[in-house]
Amino acid sequence: MLLKGRSAIITGGAGAIGRGTARVFAEHGARLAIFDVNDAALAATQAELGDQHLYMNVDVRDHAACQRAVADVAVKFGGLDILVTMAGTVPPGGIAEITIEGYDAVMDMHMRGTFNICQAAAAVMRAQKRGSIVCMSSIAPERGGGLRGGAHYAAAKGGILGFARALARELGPENIRVNAVCPGPIWTGRQEIGEQNARFAPEIPMRRVGMPEEVGGCFLFLASDLAGFVTGATLDVNGGMHIA
Ligand SMILES: NC(=O)c1ccc[n+]([C@@H]2O[C@H](COP(=O)([O-])OP(=O)(O)OC[C@H]3O[C@@H](n4cnc5c(N)ncnc54)[C@H](O)[C@@H]3O)[C@@H](O)[C@H]2O)c1
Repeated sequence: MLLKGRSAIITGGAGAIGRGTARVFAEHGARLAIFDVNDAALAATQAELGDQHLYMNVDVRDHAACQRAVADVAVKFGGLDILVTMAGTVPPGGIAEITIEGYDAVMDMHMRGTFNICQAAAAVMRAQKRGSIVCMSSIAPERGGGLRGGAHYAAAKGGILGFARALARELGPENIRVNAVCPGPIWTGRQEIGEQNARFAPEIPMRRVGMPEEVGGCFLFLASDLAGFVTGATLDVNGGMHIA
């Protein structure tokens, strides 16, 4: 019960890795606020995790909505201990195919979305003088793409890494830790796992893709007191696909 009595927001928490992480956090005693834009997925997450948590339609691209939703959660939970930023999709595309609209959409969802929700959460955490933020990045900026996402996706995820590190330096004096998680290919359930393994496993020393809960375990470690002196770190979870 590493998160007993802790409150946590997970953006994109109704998605594949988001729900896997929510499951792990709930098992460890956290009270959760799941933010997502997919109402059907929110309802399915509620059916699985139960009514003791909050399930909210919040678009992380909307600055005012993030401010309102975080303030609302802080009132309902009496504060906010943990923020996990997970919202976002993985758009493909070569440099010739990426449109300006597609480029803006990726930057809005990943970079602006991460900024919006972190700014709102940091205000609450500053007032409490404690908190832990863990941002979802990816193996893409570390290894130079070449998996599912295009170069714009790798750029946005690299931007998130830089953002998380700078925030760690800025907020450390206020007892707020900020870290990032960089997964390699993870099973999302949208494809047969055998198909995904056939595509990616030959390049992965552990010869398989990861599972959402294995990423959730990394978020759990960084969010919990086990990582009490860890800030500005990047935690790779990739079966050895990229070894820094
Ligand atoms: N699946 C992988 O192999 C992999 C690897 C590395 C990093 N990631 C990252 O992990 C995160 C989750 O990916 P996933 O594979 O679970 O995808 P997913 O599509 O299953 O989950 C993403 C969730 O984010 C939600 N979302 C999308 N836009 C949103 C917005 N504007 N505001 C709020 N919620 C929004 C979606 O509704 C969805 O539920 C993403 O940031 C992705 O880039 C995934």
